[in-house]
Amino acid sequence: MQYNDRWKKLRKIMHSILNNRQTEVYKPFQDLESRQLLHDYLQTPKEWYTANGRFANSVIMSVVFGRRSILGDPATAELFRTMEDFLRETQPGANMVDAYPVLNGLPRFLQWWRHRGEEIFRRTRACYKREVDLIKAKQTAGTQKDCFTVEFLKQCEKEKDLDETARLFALGSLMEAGSDTSKVSICQIIAGACTYPDWVPRARKELDAVCVVKEGFRWRPNIAEIGAPTVLIKDDEYEGYKFPAGTVFTWNAWAIALNPNEYEEPERFWPERFLNADLRNPLKGHYAFGPGRRVCSGWNVGECNVFIAIARLLYCFDFEEVKGQPIDTMTIPQFTGGKDPFKLNIKVRSEAHARLIERECSAAVTHEY
Ligand code: HEM
Repeated sequence: MQYNDRWKKLRKIMHSILNNRQTEVYKPFQDLESRQLLHDYLQTPKEWYTANGRFANSVIMSVVFGRRSILGDPATAELFRTMEDFLRETQPGANMVDAYPVLNGLPRFLQWWRHRGEEIFRRTRACYKREVDLIKAKQTAGTQKDCFTVEFLKQCEKEKDLDETARLFALGSLMEAGSDTSKVSICQIIAGACTYPDWVPRARKELDAVCVVKEGFRWRPNIAEIGAPTVLIKDDEYEGYKFPAGTVFTWNAWAIALNPNEYEEPERFWPERFLNADLRNPLKGHYAFGPGRRVCSGWNVGECNVFIAIARLLYCFDFEEVKGQPIDTMTIPQFTGGKDPFKLNIKVRSEAHARLIERECSAAVTHEY
């Protein structure tokens, strides 16, 4: 979406639900859902990747839609599919029309990409609409909890300035951006624990978990290898090069993250590199949340999601590569079609840890509010 009044309006909406003061609203849900995450890892370790997705999705669903997600919910799987479609299609080079907008002048029936794009749009819209319809049905039945969507829809009715599709996509992008990114970041840190296990005992004993999370964000940045593309809205110039309005820009996320001029031993998962004066600034030292004014609106929620999940998982479980099946950490686990990105062994650290999870986390699985 372009930087314009509509974008500013939507960004304001995002900010109202994701700003720093809102962090306290998310905390009880992050606590509850991470307890279920531990329980899921203990009871159904084979579903660890789906469990990561359920955890992240349930936090944002609770705040935005007033409902929790259950493990194996087809609605969550569908949401992740739409996210994969979106990311794949927005990558530079994925669609020739983005590089040559002149192609848009072709008669519609000759626009070979249009059918696919419209199909993805329809599926995505339907996926978002299902959630809003559910809320409306619960409102009619008098069972809907207070949540962001209820307030948001009331506000939209009053102001009458966002059409139905814009409303659905505002809510839907919260669901998507809030779920997939945390799921993938947790997965990448687990991959780091399997492939560079030396830091794990240090993290348990003496390291601040914040530096583990920052290193996870740095080591294999999220979204896609070359960031999220944006488009110049006016002509610009940089170091003598001229760029006309309409030029697509992105940041080369993985190349920056793995550049030896930027980071010592960049390929190594080495949390200590972030034990510095900027430790408490989650945006400093990496571009995982984006490099500029379009920076992720939900970074504080995302950072807390990953922090609580990783701190608790590392406390309770050991993670190892499966013999003969090394993890390819250079393949971003964002385009897996719902499958696990790699195989790993997950072992609870001791009987005492297993009992701790049963005692402290079982209730989270069935908790209703
Ligand atoms: C580990 C967690 C997360 C990571 C790594 C992440 C990363 C990103 C990145 C790289 C962008 C693109 C930034 C750019 O274009 O410069 C982005 C945008 C965005 N993210 Fe996140 N994100 C995370 C969590 C979240 C959460 C939890 C939410 C909301 C619940 C969220 C909401 C958004 C929104 C709304 C945008 C679009 C911002 C805009 O274009 O104005 N993100 N995120």
